[in-house]
Amino acid sequence: MADNFWHTFKKPVFTLAPMEDVTDTVFREIVLGISNPDYLNVLFSEFMSTDGFCHEIGRPKVSHRLLVNDSERKLLKEKNVKIVAQIWGKDPEKFYNATKVICEEYDFDGIDINMGCPVKKIVKQGGCSALIGQPELAKEIILATKEASDIPVSVKTRIGLSKVVTEEWISHLLDTNPAVITVHGRIQKQQSEGEADWDEVAKAVKLRNDRGSDTLIHGNGDVMSLEDGFIRAEKYGVEGVMIGRGIFHNPWFFNMRQSEKTPEERLALLWNHASLFVNTWGEGKNFAILKRFFKIYTNGFYGAAQIRAKLMECNNLDNVGNVLDSFKE
Ligand SMILES: Cc1cc2nc3c(=O)[nH]c(=O)nc-3n(C[C@H](O)[C@H](O)[C@H](O)COP(=O)(O)O)c2cc1C
Repeated sequence: MADNFWHTFKKPVFTLAPMEDVTDTVFREIVLGISNPDYLNVLFSEFMSTDGFCHEIGRPKVSHRLLVNDSERKLLKEKNVKIVAQIWGKDPEKFYNATKVICEEYDFDGIDINMGCPVKKIVKQGGCSALIGQPELAKEIILATKEASDIPVSVKTRIGLSKVVTEEWISHLLDTNPAVITVHGRIQKQQSEGEADWDEVAKAVKLRNDRGSDTLIHGNGDVMSLEDGFIRAEKYGVEGVMIGRGIFHNPWFFNMRQSEKTPEERLALLWNHASLFVNTWGEGKNFAILKRFFKIYTNGFYGAAQIRAKLMECNNLDNVGNVLDSFKE
């Protein structure tokens, strides 16, 4: 078993959340390139289905989620930032088999099990946050993954399904001694509504302390600035903070305030992102995925709304280049 890298960082640890269609190798590289590694320690892949990965025909359809470009890998090494593969499913044997392959054929620093995704389609299949309602199966899954893994195994979860059950649920997870439990302070039913309840995150910390367990507890939900992350880590006692949507408000989240960046710098980043996306995925991913990102780079400056509107009509990289050129003029 490799060293547990989770314990090697200065506290609080900051992580960029796994986000489907967002944190692919392309966006991770863009964020990594502009982040200060003092404030960004760990990145996660998008979640990947163990059912799909363990199936001959299914594997190529899901394994792109584990792609790490050489250029991302180089930055990870230079900045000593770690990368974790996130997987989901409901069958312990598939977790075991998928983990074996990931450890043997890929180069990740850790494996994370998604026990938090609230999307109904997925919950119906019995995976992700549905496992909160099946603690014995959840434990089997963690133990099977740990058995197959020579890298640390962590869990990302919520505080309940239809009601808050933090103590009961986190106790079950602690029984299996994962390297980290990232607690998103919402229940499944809430989806992304309401506020994340960090008092419940603090309960998970207390439970862990009372047991004398060395599982780290990270908090997640609604952290919109680095300063806020430091304050919450201190107030709620977590060893780390996971940032999701905060990166949409500020791609320089793990560095400095976006307002200090000129429109030219933001648009240059947009161009780098769009070019890397097309070079990496070609026709393999829908160009429209990029539109969510165009919003990230075009706000807070004179003319941002107009350029954003034009970018939303782009269907290829040439179109984007033309829009950016017209802005320069
Ligand atoms: C577009 C999007 C995709 C997401 N995909 C995943 C995922 O693949 N795995 C996962 O564990 N959570 C996923 N999440 C949840 C986030 O990781 C995070 O827990 C949630 O957004 C709350 O944190 P925040 O308030 O900082 O955004 C996703 C969230 C968003 C907005």
